[in-house]
Amino acid sequence: MQTNKMLENVQTIAIIDNQFGDTGKGKFSDYFSEWADIVARGTGGNNAGHTVVINNKKRVFHLIPSGITHKNKINILGNGMVIDLKVLTQELDELEKENISYENLMISEDAHVILPYHISKDKKKNASQKKGGIGSTGRGIGPCYADKIARRGIMIRDLLDKNIFNQKIEKVKERYPNEEIDAEIILKELEPFIERIKPFIRDTISLIHDFKKQGKKILIEGAQGLLLSIEYGTYPYVTSSDCSINGTAAGVGLSAKDVDLPLGIVKFPYMTRVGAGPFPSEFDTIKSEKYCAAGYNILTELKEYNIPYTEENKNIKYNHYHENIIKLMNSDDPFLQGVGIRLAGDEYGATTGRPRRTGWTDLLLLKYAVGINGPNIILTKTDVIRFAKEFKFVVGYDNLKSFKRDLSILKNSKPKFKTFTGFDEDISEIKEYNKLPESLKQSIEFIEEFADCKVRIISVGADRNQTVFK
Ligand code: GDP
Ligand code: IMO
Ligand code: MG
Repeated sequence: MQTNKMLENVQTIAIIDNQFGDTGKGKFSDYFSEWADIVARGTGGNNAGHTVVINNKKRVFHLIPSGITHKNKINILGNGMVIDLKVLTQELDELEKENISYENLMISEDAHVILPYHISKDKKKNASQKKGGIGSTGRGIGPCYADKIARRGIMIRDLLDKNIFNQKIEKVKERYPNEEIDAEIILKELEPFIERIKPFIRDTISLIHDFKKQGKKILIEGAQGLLLSIEYGTYPYVTSSDCSINGTAAGVGLSAKDVDLPLGIVKFPYMTRVGAGPFPSEFDTIKSEKYCAAGYNILTELKEYNIPYTEENKNIKYNHYHENIIKLMNSDDPFLQGVGIRLAGDEYGATTGRPRRTGWTDLLLLKYAVGINGPNIILTKTDVIRFAKEFKFVVGYDNLKSFKRDLSILKNSKPKFKTFTGFDEDISEIKEYNKLPESLKQSIEFIEEFADCKVRIISVGADRNQTVFK
């Protein structure tokens, strides 16, 4: 593992998403797990989909930290998470099938539990954009966090005491008049899952303090993204946790001050968003937001634009640089350009399969993110825009000098761009920064200056090894 002296004197790293999620946290959490002794996730639940690619083998994790494939590491599901026990058990089953050990897994007794009424309410209220919802993942995240904040949540530890569980469920019932809630039935359904996870339940807050004192190396894996944070994102079009460095550190029992090296990931030079909400740099935002909410998936687009593909065990393969994709990516119609970039980048949700909305990377957002998550940046997906004649960044808006969370302003923002010449070289095997195309390097230096940040790593492909240090 190459680290370019970056890790000297570093005990704690956090991998944080500086955009709207799906920037490649899985890849870099896996990458830095080799260095770490402890890998801990602090926020969200199975709304997350974190992809790890090792020697062409792709795995997607929803709850378990992406460090799990590394031997002898402790993997923690932290106190800030919301956990669906059925999904967790399914992930354990998948690991077992592959002979990946999870004996060092730790599940915080303080984490909250997603129960069937959370999922049901989320699906009815939030999931469908067509019915006016925010386009949540429908996994029960919002209602579970709402119960946590309203002090009626069920924590992992409550599952171990039937009396406490029953008492708490009685409190919950009043709040869900439209759901049939029966403590006996819920507990009966959960029993096999509780048995399965019991050996891993721990007081992870105290443990992580001990690990820190012992000098163990800690990697914190973020979930979602800063612009989806309840605290800093495009509220109310956000998730229900604080996925900034602050909430992420708190979610594993630490303070943001304990993190020596927060690494903020930025998709570059395009970015994505799934679900509803403002995305001022989106290609043809009005058309694209509606289109992406209409229930299409990757197959619809491959067929619509005549791109040949193969399908094996739900694995869809196609040439990301197919001539039709390149044509779309270079189209004068911004909507089609957005489709082209989505196809080139394979931007379909790792959790829900929804098409991700696309737009050029917004440097005002980056500046904002640097103010919260710090100046150290990882750029991902730089390989995707190969064959684009030019690529751009948003460097301003007609009605905004710096990013604001005010939706009425964001909805009407017209972006101003800085344009760079594209490149045709295959950069996916490049290992040294100096060998990257000139225009890409110029653009990287431009954003460092613009956003007052320091680009540490450039990712040139999904595989662990396709990583260039600057
Ligand atoms: P996460 O939620 O932040 O972990 O990101 P996702 O896994 O949802 O989405 C990122 C996608 O991009 C995954 O399919 C990754 O395998 C892939 N990926 C990560 N880094 C790169 C990169 O540099 N280039 C390309 N082409 N793909 C990447
Ligand atoms: P990872 O960790 C991208 C989005 C949903 C929706 C909003 C609220 O893979 O980056 P929720 O189900 O959390 O109540 O949905 O947040 N969202 C994500 N978008 N990546 C994610 O996770 C996301 N998790 C939630 O699409 O717009
Ligand atoms: Mg994801």
